[in-house]
Amino acid sequence: MGRLDGRTAIITGTAQGTGETLARVFAEEGARLVLGDVQEERGRAVAKEIGDEAAFVRLDVSSEADWKRTVATAVDRFGGVDVLVNNAAILLLKPFDEISSEEFLRIVQVNQLGPFLGMQAVFPIMKERDGGSIINIASTDGIKGMNGVAAYASSKWAVRGLTKSAAIELGRYAIRVNAVCPEAGNPNMSAPFFPGNPDLTDVPHQMMQKILKDPKPVVPGSRLRDVANMALFLASDESRSCTGGDFVVDAGLTVGWYQDGVPSA
Ligand SMILES: NC(=O)c1ccc[n+]([C@@H]2O[C@H](COP(=O)([O-])OP(=O)(O)OC[C@H]3O[C@@H](n4cnc5c(N)ncnc54)[C@H](O)[C@@H]3O)[C@@H](O)[C@H]2O)c1
Repeated sequence: MGRLDGRTAIITGTAQGTGETLARVFAEEGARLVLGDVQEERGRAVAKEIGDEAAFVRLDVSSEADWKRTVATAVDRFGGVDVLVNNAAILLLKPFDEISSEEFLRIVQVNQLGPFLGMQAVFPIMKERDGGSIINIASTDGIKGMNGVAAYASSKWAVRGLTKSAAIELGRYAIRVNAVCPEAGNPNMSAPFFPGNPDLTDVPHQMMQKILKDPKPVVPGSRLRDVANMALFLASDESRSCTGGDFVVDAGLTVGWYQDGVPSA
C-alpha cells in the first residue's frame, strides 16, 4: 500500500531537479499527479514517463489564470486536490548593490507570489474536502544569511512567513501548511551564475567544512530524494500533527558552528 494512495497532488516546477524527483517519489507512493512547469517539453516528458496517473499543465506560478487551469485539471481529471507542493522557484546570485528592482520583483513574483497564488487556488477545494496538506519548498537561505542572495533569500524568508500565517488561518479547515528548507537541490540551478560551468556538486560539502570540524559522519548535501522524502512525510497522514513548521533537510548546515578553544569532543 502506498503512503499517498487515493490522494491527488499538484506539484510545481517538475520538469527537472527537485520537482521531478518529488513527482516520481509521490507516484511511487500511489498519488495521482498534476504537474506544472513553464518548461513544456521536459514537463510533458516527465509526466508521460510516470504514466496515466500524471497530467502535465503549462503553469507559470506567478499567473492567477494558470493556477485556475491547473486546479480545474485536478478537479476534472482526478476529482479534487489533497496536496499542493509549491516547489518552483528561480535563483539570482548577484551583488546586493547590482540587483535591479525588475530583477528583485521577478524573484518575488515567482518565489513568493507563486506559492501564495497556489495556496489561494487550492484552498476552496481543500476546504470542501475537509482537509489537505500544503508544502512550500523554501531553503536554508530562508533561515540564515549568505552573500549574493539578497533577493532570493528574502523571498525564501517570506515563504516561511507565508507558511506560518496560512497554517494559522487554514488549520480550522484541517489544512496543514509546512515549509521544507533544503540546503541543496539541483546543482544546475546555480550553474548559470558561474562562468565556465564548473561542477558544483561538492559545494554543500565545502560549506559544511566551514561549519563543522569534520563533516564526514554527516551526509554531505541533501540529496533530491531526501528533500522529496521529507515532502512525502508532510503530504501523508504520518505528519498529521505537523503544521506551520520549518523542516530542514540540510545535513546540519544551519545547526551552528564549531567553536575552537571550547572544551568538547
Ligand atoms: N538548487 C539548490 O541548491 C536549492 C537549494 C535550496 C532550496 N532549493 C529550492 O528547491 C526548489 C527546487 O529547485 P531545484 O533545485 O530543483 O531547481 P531547478 O532550477 O532545477 O528547478 C526549478 C523548476 O522550476 C521551474 N520554474 C521556474 N520558474 C517557474 C515558473 N514561473 N512557473 C513554474 N515553474 C517554474 C523550472 O522550469 C524548473 O523546472 C526551489 O524552491 C528552490 O528554491 C534549491
